[in-house]
Amino acid sequence: MDRDERLSAADFPEDFRFGAATSAYQVEGAVGEDGRGPSIWDTFSHIPGKIRGADTGDVACDHYHRFRTDAALMRELGIRHYRFSIAWPRIIPDGVGRIEPRGLAFYDRLVDTLLEHEIRPFPTLFHWDLPQALEDRGGWRVRSTADAFARYADVVGRALGDRVDEFATHNEPWCAAVLGYQTGQHAPGARDRGSAVRAAHHLLYAHGLASQALRAAGVRQVGIVVNPKAVMPATDSADDIAAAAMVEARDNAWFLDPLFHARYPEAIAAETAAIDGLVQDADLGTVAQPIDFVGVNYYQPDVVRGVRGPGGLTALDATPKTRVTQMGWPVDATALGHLLGHLAATYTGSIPLYVTENGAAYEDRIDAGGEVDDPDRTQYLREHLAAVREAARAGVPVKGYYVWSLLDNFEWAEGYARRFGIVYTDPSRPELRIPKGSARWYRSFLQGAAVRP
Ligand code: GCO
Repeated sequence: MDRDERLSAADFPEDFRFGAATSAYQVEGAVGEDGRGPSIWDTFSHIPGKIRGADTGDVACDHYHRFRTDAALMRELGIRHYRFSIAWPRIIPDGVGRIEPRGLAFYDRLVDTLLEHEIRPFPTLFHWDLPQALEDRGGWRVRSTADAFARYADVVGRALGDRVDEFATHNEPWCAAVLGYQTGQHAPGARDRGSAVRAAHHLLYAHGLASQALRAAGVRQVGIVVNPKAVMPATDSADDIAAAAMVEARDNAWFLDPLFHARYPEAIAAETAAIDGLVQDADLGTVAQPIDFVGVNYYQPDVVRGVRGPGGLTALDATPKTRVTQMGWPVDATALGHLLGHLAATYTGSIPLYVTENGAAYEDRIDAGGEVDDPDRTQYLREHLAAVREAARAGVPVKGYYVWSLLDNFEWAEGYARRFGIVYTDPSRPELRIPKGSARWYRSFLQGAAVRP
């Protein structure tokens, strides 16, 4: 994007949403408070060696006690949409059985506080913090967890549906299945492809059951948040194009085909068929029921080239690394525009798309004046907002953008060593909130000012 090109919220449709996002385990803390049961992330983060710096979400940003301050801060920054997640272990501590009224009361308070500040709540039911008691019975490997999730959705829908118009069922089911059950990088830390295939199906089936439960509870809009790869071939050679198609089928179609076409892609269908009783007759119809929106989490491009060897075609990473974030993720906002257009053309059609996460980790420090200047993050946000503007202008039904994240928070296996927030926090000083330069820029942008970094 031309650095001199001006960008303003006024460039977007009138009803376009600009927000910020967090998730329960990454910001709430208070893990033992008010009857909350342990989640698989409580277990996993306390296993030595799993998390950089031996960090845990025990305290995090203490959002559980400081949500009023955070809501006021959002209002002060001009943020009117807040995507957060609800911690299943606060609502039903064992995943099944007893409902914890103090857990429901917390989200009651949070929603009411947001509404008092004229901030629209946008909750996700599952952002990876599965009740440990359910994992002890098989977790997402077993079908009964999908049934338990539907009941949890019903409980929350009935409790909050009078004030919350929309719920996402899952955040990034691909991560929950693959990182949690195949690579072991995330909780519960299993390393078994069969478990990942089982988990993926039960997560998808749970999405379908929960969507039905939310609608039955009177919730107006239901959807899901996914993180499809922005796959592009390195060149227009036949092997590169074939490699990109292979990655698209392996990682994206695995979840998007069931959700929007009621079928698995061929390679995955073979894996699910090899597991007796996994996919039952009505399942994919339940998974693919109509939804009202799709959340898209985007951070980086995924350029691949195809290499032929004895085992056939292999897709290798060919993403240029000229600009990378602190995560080592390449920066290319144009890939976001391509991804949104591809999703609309191939899967979602006229369903509203929200960029439910976009942001970057950079080394942030408090300067001598007590400020945190983060020009790289501001430039990242500016470029990606411009790409979203172009997609909207091209007719893609993208209707919102939520920056990841409002607060520096527990970045899963990276702990607190990776800062994504537009507001600086420190788990050793849970009261600390320092709006960074990117927060001040976002405020100017939201005020309709034509801004530069
Ligand atoms: C994800 C999760 C977030 C991460 C963020 C940065 O997309 O992985 O939704 O919880 O913290 O994406 O990795």
